[in-house]
Amino acid sequence: MNEADARRWATAVDALSTRRRTLAFFSMLGCGLAVRRMIAPAKADPADERPKEGDHLVGIDASEPVSLQPSDITDSLVLAWPMEPAAKLIRNGSRLNKVLLVRLDPSTIIGPTQERAADGIVAYSAICPHAGCEVTDWSADRQILECPCHNSRYNAREAARVIDGPSTRALAALPLKIVESKLVVAKPFIGRLGIAPP
Ligand code: FES
Repeated sequence: MNEADARRWATAVDALSTRRRTLAFFSMLGCGLAVRRMIAPAKADPADERPKEGDHLVGIDASEPVSLQPSDITDSLVLAWPMEPAAKLIRNGSRLNKVLLVRLDPSTIIGPTQERAADGIVAYSAICPHAGCEVTDWSADRQILECPCHNSRYNAREAARVIDGPSTRALAALPLKIVESKLVVAKPFIGRLGIAPP
């Protein structure tokens, strides 16, 4: 091999190894992206997200996503889901988002519940911290919420604190406000959701 052939050979070998390095680089990059895609957290479903300020409320049995108004809450307990109003997206992907609404005499509301109430209406998590049943019983006379499973009772006028029964924790509160005649979430849940540790 003369000198010119040797130079051509060296150039060809150099080009080949550059191509190999390039291929290896892109293949590593591809693997990295695939791995990153695999470990990236899945995007949260908005229906699972907790209620946000500005959400409306919709009755759990409503056939249409109609926003609840203060006049819809009378003597009975109403179960509702939060709803993002622009897209009418009902946040019913998690049962922990289910809330109960009751009407109180505003003059009897105690402590921080005064600021969380709207026109005497208060909202609490409907999930009992004792064992996760739904709190569905309401004594409008005594303004007491009761869980039908093991009879834990909560004072709706005072941050749903436990009055008696096996529950050890108050129901989480969902502050409300009224905007354009609709019941609207004023702040996220206050207090822990779900079952209390033993
Ligand atoms: S689940 Fe409510 S009192 Fe037990």
